[in-house]
Order: sequence, then structure tokens, then C-alpha cells
Amino acid sequence: MSAQKIIIAIDGYSSCGKSTLAKELAAKLKYSYIDSGAMYRAITLYFLRHHIDYSDHGKVIDAIANINISFVYNDQTLNSDIHLNDEDVAPYIRDMIVSEKVSEVAAIREVRSFAVAQQKRMGRKKAIVMDGRDIGTAVFPEAELKLFMTADPEVRVMRRFKEMYETNPRVTIDEVRHNLELRDYIDSTREESPLHQATDAILLDNSSLTRDEQLEIVLNWVKEKTPNPAYK
Ligand code: DC
Repeated sequence: MSAQKIIIAIDGYSSCGKSTLAKELAAKLKYSYIDSGAMYRAITLYFLRHHIDYSDHGKVIDAIANINISFVYNDQTLNSDIHLNDEDVAPYIRDMIVSEKVSEVAAIREVRSFAVAQQKRMGRKKAIVMDGRDIGTAVFPEAELKLFMTADPEVRVMRRFKEMYETNPRVTIDEVRHNLELRDYIDSTREESPLHQATDAILLDNSSLTRDEQLEIVLNWVKEKTPNPAYK
């Protein structure tokens, strides 16, 4: 019997460690990892660079027609880098200027249909771990394993602050806290696919779990959902 491949959907608030867990799972299972938030960030970067007035739906539709997003495997980092119209934009999409606007951009219906259609195509062959806000509810409602991640707000602020500080030592904890609170609010109250826990998603609060403990817990859930897993 050949190894069964599944779809793992990970949703949750900003800075809960979704991408850390998703990358580790994908490496362990030899699955692809897709950071859906990076797509919304790349679209936001395009809008900012091209001064698109995204309150105007016509302008959004025209702009999207000129956007091509791809994930290119990088054998140095063993991860996929996000490319916007063939440019590696990974170094720019986590800048505060993008973080400040991304939730507004991700709330636009046309932006979501564009990103979700591509995300669904990427899951056709399964063997994928995707993280975001609507993966278990809208992108892969049929996913075999759905997680909804959460963590104590102050733990999340400090995690994001440390991450941002590495590239921008001028960032302050208050700025990071304000940005996270605002994004959580917009992401969970928007009209289009708001962030919420799918009824069949498992809640994972990792405030006091180490990375290894978290990975072990989730790998056990993967085993339960995969009768003949590709790893032991
Ligand atoms: O995961 P992240 O912080 O990089 O995501 C950036 C923003 O994109 C986040 O504020 C909400 C939005 N997003 C979304 O609406 N749907 C997704 N599937 C992923 C991210």
C-alpha cells in the first residue's frame, strides 16, 4: 500500500508560530509548505510600489491582472521563496510598511478570490501544509487535519518583536503590539472569510510548549489522520 498523503490546514492569529510549525511538519513529512500570508503580503507590496488606490475595485482588478505569484524552491534554505512577477520579494514582505496595510488588502474580495484560487490549485495533489487565516474554512474545507493555533497575546508580541528586531532594530514593542492587535481585529471581523476556528479544527495553544513538544503532539495527530504515513 502506498503512503497516504493528506492536507494539513493551519489557521490562527498573527504570530502564533504557525509558519514555524508548518515548516517543521513539511520537512518531517516531505510535504510542500505554503505560507498563504506571504501571498497577501506580496500583493500588498505590489499595491504599495505601484501606488494602487485599493479602495477602488476597478483599480484592484486591473492591478491583479498584472500580478503573478510563484513559490520557488531554495535548496540553500530548504524552503520556498515567494516571487512576485519573477522577483524574490521575501526580503521586503515583512517590512512594517507592508504589515500595516496587509490586513486591509487581504479583506478585499477580489484579492481573496485571486489568492484562494491559486492556493486551491496548489493543494490538488495533497502532501501540503498551508498556513493562514481561512485555510481550514475556505481554501481546504476538506483537509484531513485542521489546526487552529493560539497563544497568549504577550507571548506573541515578544515572538514577533524578536523576529522583526533582527532586520529592524528601531522597531518598538508597542509598535509590534499595536500592529498585531489591529491585524487580529481586522482579520477576524472582516466580511470575506473572517478568521475563525473551523468546527472540525483542533485547538492548539502553544503559549507554554517548546517547538519540539508542539511538533511531537502534532505529528501524533498526523499519524491518527494518516493510516499509512510516509514516515515512522
Ligand atoms: O500570516 P501573516 O501575518 O503573514 O499574514 C498577513 C496577513 O494576511 C494577515 O494579517 C491576514 C492575511 N491573511 C489572510 O487574510 N488569509 C490568509 N490565508 C493568510 C493571511
